[in-house]
Amino acid sequence: MNALRDDFFKYQAQTTPSPLAMEISHAEGSYIFDIHQKKYLDFVAGVSACSLGHRPPSVVAAVKEQLEKYWHVMVYGEYIQRPSVELTILLAANLPESLSCTYLTNSGTEAIEGAMKLAKRITGRSQFVAAKNAYHGSTQGAMSIMGFEERKSAYRPLLPGIEFITFNCDADLEKIGTQTAAVVLETIQGGAGFILPKNHYLKKVKKRCEEVGALLILDEIQPGLGRTGTLFGFETFGIVPDILVMGKGLGGGFPIGAFSTSPTLMKQLQTDPVLGHITTFGGHPVIASAALATLKRITEGDLMKKTLKKEQLFRQLLIHDHIQEIRGIGLMLALILPNAETANQLVLRCMEKGLILFWLLFEKKAVRITPPLTLSENEIREGCEIILSVLDEL
Ligand SMILES: Cc1ncc(COP(=O)(O)O)c(C=O)c1O
Repeated sequence: MNALRDDFFKYQAQTTPSPLAMEISHAEGSYIFDIHQKKYLDFVAGVSACSLGHRPPSVVAAVKEQLEKYWHVMVYGEYIQRPSVELTILLAANLPESLSCTYLTNSGTEAIEGAMKLAKRITGRSQFVAAKNAYHGSTQGAMSIMGFEERKSAYRPLLPGIEFITFNCDADLEKIGTQTAAVVLETIQGGAGFILPKNHYLKKVKKRCEEVGALLILDEIQPGLGRTGTLFGFETFGIVPDILVMGKGLGGGFPIGAFSTSPTLMKQLQTDPVLGHITTFGGHPVIASAALATLKRITEGDLMKKTLKKEQLFRQLLIHDHIQEIRGIGLMLALILPNAETANQLVLRCMEKGLILFWLLFEKKAVRITPPLTLSENEIREGCEIILSVLDEL
């Protein structure tokens, strides 16, 4: 008998008929503990959100300090609140001038919505081009540019006139035209199977956008921040988007989203009409202080540099007949297995053995490894041993 478990299924709305339903006691560093005091090594980090692991001391201190001063005092953008201003300053210090003005939201999907609205205002156009198998969030604008019909047809009508292109396909770039407000792409496709842009693909997209006067919006919600060895994924591929969208890892485990562009372009949301994009809780001071502490740690230390070394260790250790490929870069890795059932069993049996792995949204043969950036080498070895022992049994 477990009353809380029963109530979870009865009262809390679910997203699938079969959630993992592990009941959490507490979490610390790279580990999560369930109510039976079983310890789980976390190779998922709340789906790339807990950049510094669980309850990192500097984030705990920043949140506590802010709680002692004030939390919600006014809707986004009216009052001057130090944590959100300092967060946008630190972002600007790490971004090109053309991305130096940031709007803070509560989630990634909301940041995508804001970015799409901004692109309409800047260009005076309404068509969007997005990639097949892309995921950008679950609200209706973001769902409209999701490239996976099976999960969205039940919600139509959605935004009209969306054009889909195949990621990494040069021929499809012709679909970007003079009607296009923006091309929205994940810098590294997440749900599709951790697919990296190849053969200067993003440079070609950017060039085509410039030719036809469309904007390039890059969704960095999964690779950000620091996960790919650079703070932002786009730095690895030698281009700068017109609008950058962030979320997940920026908050260090607190709910956040953000989109950045130039101060001049961002002004479009202020006038004609005023209040072009509004939010009650965006830029919340407690969450901004958590994000600020997270961003400081990532940018000031050597975590980013170590990310690529840790990737090498994963690649050295994870050699097995069932692993067909390891996709991704840095600490955004996906094991590609022979079929969906093997991937499924790997996730479930590793969990039994105390290792957390997770599925990808659309690529069912893949298993996600997106641990905290703070994961130690010993923890990598510990987790990889579990993975290999489970694969031996499959
Ligand atoms: C690439 C990408 N974009 C957007 C989102 C939506 O972010 P959120 O769940 O914070 O709304 C996600 C979430 O998984 C994502 O992976």
